[in-house]
Amino acid sequence: MLIAGNWKMNKDLDDALVLASGVADSVEDDPNVDAAVCPPFVSLQAVAEVLEDTPVALGAQTMHHENRGAYTGSISAPMLRSVECTYVIVGHSERRAYFCETDQDVHRQVASALSHGLVPIVCVGESLDQRREGKAKEVVETQVTAALEGIPLERPDEFVIAYEPIWAIGTGETATPDQAQEMHAHVRALLAEFLPADVEPTTEILYGGSMKPHNAHDLLARPDITGGLVGGASLQATDFAAIFEEARKVAA
Ligand code: PGA
Repeated sequence: MLIAGNWKMNKDLDDALVLASGVADSVEDDPNVDAAVCPPFVSLQAVAEVLEDTPVALGAQTMHHENRGAYTGSISAPMLRSVECTYVIVGHSERRAYFCETDQDVHRQVASALSHGLVPIVCVGESLDQRREGKAKEVVETQVTAALEGIPLERPDEFVIAYEPIWAIGTGETATPDQAQEMHAHVRALLAEFLPADVEPTTEILYGGSMKPHNAHDLLARPDITGGLVGGASLQATDFAAIFEEARKVAA
């Protein structure tokens, strides 16, 4: 399992250090559950120092697919590696909606992340309209396929998928455990197509969208929901730690 905190555009450097220390102090080392935090770029290096020798890994919130060059304002995979990032979130719905990132961009980011030894957390998810129209599975399938097709994947743990229904992000509305499990099972079946035939698709598939301490257990208890990508509740160390504890109970 993996519980990853997506801090989004929150916390200046001082606050990021306080939050990272709080998370590091309250998360137990556990063989079954990994923890990660994804602060804004400007805090990555300092947070990496706080997290050294703790069980909490570091991730970034996005990246550019090129290694270097004239891309003002962008950050590349080698740069993220140089500040000890393990993970990078790619294709978050906010990046897709507000920064016009396309399925093709996401595909290139996944390829670049993997080639530099970063674990991409590939976000997929449908809008409310798409769900109402009965197109949720189709939309997610298209996003997963676009992200992974043609990339030579060897191991299920090289990458992570985060199913984040857009209508549940930051809204306090959560997919029911049944809705989420159904989509996660669908994604898992699909992943088998992108992995070698003799490899089980045991890839972590995180749920994201208003995961909180009070609903985490019911979501994580479902067989194909193997973690969470947590936004709002990751901004308080106590809430993040409480979700992590629910994951430990389920995984034990
Ligand atoms: P939320 O955000 O937990 O605040 O809904 C999740 C995400 O966008 O990753």
